[in-house]
Amino acid sequence: MNGKLIGNPVDRVDGRLKVTGKATYTAENHPEGMVYAAIVQSTVPRGSVLRMQTDEAEKAPGVLKVLTPRNMPKPAGLAQYSAIPMLPKLPVMQDSEVFYNGQPIGLVVADTFERAVHAASLVRTTYVDKPAILDLEKARANAQPAPGIFGGPPPGHTRGDVEAGLKTGPVRVEATYVTPAETHHPMEPHATVAVWNDPEHLTLYDTTQGVHFSRQFLALLLAMPQENIRVLSPFLGGGFGCKGLPWGHVVMSVLAAKEVGRPVKVVLTRQQMSMMVGYRPTTVQKVELAASPKGQLTALRHTGFSELSEQDSFAETFTAVSNMLYACPNVTTSQQVVRLSTSTPTFMRAPGEAPGTFALESALDELAHQLKMDPLELRRINHADKDPEHGRPWSSKSLLECYRVGAERFGWKKRPLAPRSLREGDKLIGWGMATATFPAMRGQAAALARVLPDGTAVVQCGGADLGTGAYTVFTQVAADALGMSHQKVRMEMGDSLLPLGPLAGGSMSTATASPAIQGAAASVREQLVKLAVADKASPLHGLAEKDVLTEDGRLFSRKDKSRGETYAQLLTRQQLPHVEGKGESAPKEEEKKYSGHAFGAHFVEVRVDEALGTARVSRIVSTMAAGRILNAKTARSQISGGIIFGLGMALTEETLRDPRNGRVMTADLADYHVPVQADVPNIDVQFIEEEDKFVNPLGIKGIGEIATTGIAAAVANAVFHATGKRIRELPITLDKLM
Ligand code: MOS
Repeated sequence: MNGKLIGNPVDRVDGRLKVTGKATYTAENHPEGMVYAAIVQSTVPRGSVLRMQTDEAEKAPGVLKVLTPRNMPKPAGLAQYSAIPMLPKLPVMQDSEVFYNGQPIGLVVADTFERAVHAASLVRTTYVDKPAILDLEKARANAQPAPGIFGGPPPGHTRGDVEAGLKTGPVRVEATYVTPAETHHPMEPHATVAVWNDPEHLTLYDTTQGVHFSRQFLALLLAMPQENIRVLSPFLGGGFGCKGLPWGHVVMSVLAAKEVGRPVKVVLTRQQMSMMVGYRPTTVQKVELAASPKGQLTALRHTGFSELSEQDSFAETFTAVSNMLYACPNVTTSQQVVRLSTSTPTFMRAPGEAPGTFALESALDELAHQLKMDPLELRRINHADKDPEHGRPWSSKSLLECYRVGAERFGWKKRPLAPRSLREGDKLIGWGMATATFPAMRGQAAALARVLPDGTAVVQCGGADLGTGAYTVFTQVAADALGMSHQKVRMEMGDSLLPLGPLAGGSMSTATASPAIQGAAASVREQLVKLAVADKASPLHGLAEKDVLTEDGRLFSRKDKSRGETYAQLLTRQQLPHVEGKGESAPKEEEKKYSGHAFGAHFVEVRVDEALGTARVSRIVSTMAAGRILNAKTARSQISGGIIFGLGMALTEETLRDPRNGRVMTADLADYHVPVQADVPNIDVQFIEEEDKFVNPLGIKGIGEIATTGIAAAVANAVFHATGKRIRELPITLDKLM
C-alpha cells in the first residue's frame, strides 16, 4: 500500500456532520408513533420481588403499559442465549430475583418521556430481603478461580520455577496493589429505539460498538433469523467497552415495543449508566519480584482477584501483561474472582492491561528504587527480545526506541535518583515512567466498494466509529486503493445491512476492517483499468493494464499523463450504473507464527502540594510504536484520549457503593470524577514508525487502548519520586498523600 493518503492527518470526514448536528445519534431517532419507556429499578441489593403495585402507574396519564416480572413476555431463545459463556445474564424480568441494587425490575411505557418517568415513580415494590454480599474484604474468603474470557482458558501462566527464582534473586519486592471499580461514562448514554416493522421484522437503533454482533445476540435471544433484524448505530458518542455486549434495557425495549405495538425508546439516565451497563471491577493484585543485584529479573509472581457479580462470569485479566512484558525465566500468574451483590462487570478500555500495568509497573519502580537504579534502565535490562510467554518472535517491536525517544524529549537523564529531590516553592516535583502495551489482534470483516458515474464512490463496511475517527481512516484506505481523492469517497458504517464489520473493541477495528476495505477498493480500480483498455472509445484502449495508472479518479497512461480519462467519463460512456468490488479478510495462519503487540512508554511529571496533598500532572511525554499509523491527527487524539482516561484512573475515578445497601453512590458526573480540561496538561505524543510485515497485511497494530495502559503507574511512580510515598491504591487522592 503506497497511496498518498495513508498516514496523512486528514480532517475527520464526519466532523462537519457532527458540529452541525446532522449526525443522527441513536436517541435522536423518532419513528412514527414512537413512545417512551422508563425503567423501574430495585432498591434492595439482594432479595426477590414479593409484590409490585402497579395500578396507580397504570392509571397515570399517557401510560400504555406497565411491565413487571409478572407480565413480561419471555424471549423465545433465552435458554440458548444464557448458555453462551460470559454473556451478561440479562435482567429482562423473567423472574422476581434481585441480584443488585438498581437492577431493572419494571418498565413503564407512556406517550411522553416525562409521563413514563412519572408513572415509573408510582410503582410500589415490596421485597423479600436476602443476605447481600457487599463487603469485599469479607467475601475474599470465598474467592473462586477466575473464569476464562468467552469460555476460553482461565487467565494464568507458568514458566520456569517461580519459587526457585525468588530464592535466586536477592533483591525482592512484594506488594499489593488495588484498583477501584470504574464506570465507563461515555458522553452519549446508552439508548435504544426498537421498531417492529411487522411481527417478524425488527429494526433497532442502538448504541452499540458492533451492529453485527448486536444482531447476532438478539437473533439468538429472540429466536429469530438474523436477516429479520436490522441494527443501526451510525454514530456513537464514545463507548469504552460498555457498548460492546448487549444489556437488559435493549431486550426490554424490544419486548415492550411488541407488547404495545408502537416503537419504543429507552435512554438510560446518567445514574443508570452506573448501574446496568457494566463497569470495570475492583482488583486486588499481589506482585512479587526478585532480581539480581544488577537488576535482572529472576522471578515474577502476579496473583490476585477481581470482583464479580453473583450471576455472571467475567474476569479482569490483569495478569496478562506480566506473562509477556519482561524477559524473566520464572513466572507464575493466576487469578481469582470474588462474588458480590453487584451488577455485572465488563470490558472497559484496556480491560486487564490497565489495572495490570498499574501493579506490574509500580512494582518495577519499587524494584528500581531498591536497586538504586534508574527505573528506565531496569526496564531496558529486562527487555524481552521475543515473546517470553509463547516463545515466538514479535511481529515487530520498537519499545527500546520508544524509551530512547521518550526519555530524550522528556529530559529524563536529568532526573535525580532519590525521591524528594525536586521542588519548586511548596510543590514537590516528581518524574515517573512506565511501559505501555496492548495486543494487536484482528478478526473477520467484509467490505463493498462502488464507483459511480458521477465520479464519486461509496464504500461500505458495517463497523462502528466510536468517535475515534474510523470513518476517516477507512475513507483514506479506500480512497488510496481506489485511486481517488478522499473527498470523493463516502464511507458507510454502523448498519447491519452492510457487509460484516468489526466490533469497535479490542483495539482491532482498524486492523480488521482495513484489509477488507482495501481489497474491495482495489478490485474496483482493477476492473476500471480492464474496462478502459478494452474499450475502443477510451484514450487508453489497447494499453497493457500495468501501464495504466490512476490518481484523483482518473486513469492515465504511465508514459503520457495527458492520455487518459476520468472514472466518470468511462462509466458514463459505458452507461454503467456503477462498478463494484468486494473484499474480505480474516487472520491468516502464518500471522500466528508471530506475537503481535503494540508497545509504548509514558513519561510523567507531577507536582504535589506538600501542605494540601494534591497531585497534579504537569507534563506528559508518550511514545508509541503501534505499527502503521493511518492518520497522524486522529491517532494523536486517540492516544491523548487514552492517556486522559488513564489520568482519571490514576487520580480521580472511583465507583463507590454504599456499604449498607450496595447502591452506587458516585452515580453522576458530579460525584464520579472524570478528568476535566484543567486536570490535563500538555501531552506530547510521538509515534515511532514501524513497518510490520507480519502482524497483518497493512501492518496495523491498533491504538484504541494502549495509551490507557501504564499511565496510572507512571503517575504513581512520579508521585513516589516527588514525595517518597508509594501509593498502591488508586485513585491517588489527597487523603492518601497527607
Ligand atoms: Mo473495548 S474495552 O475493547 O470496547
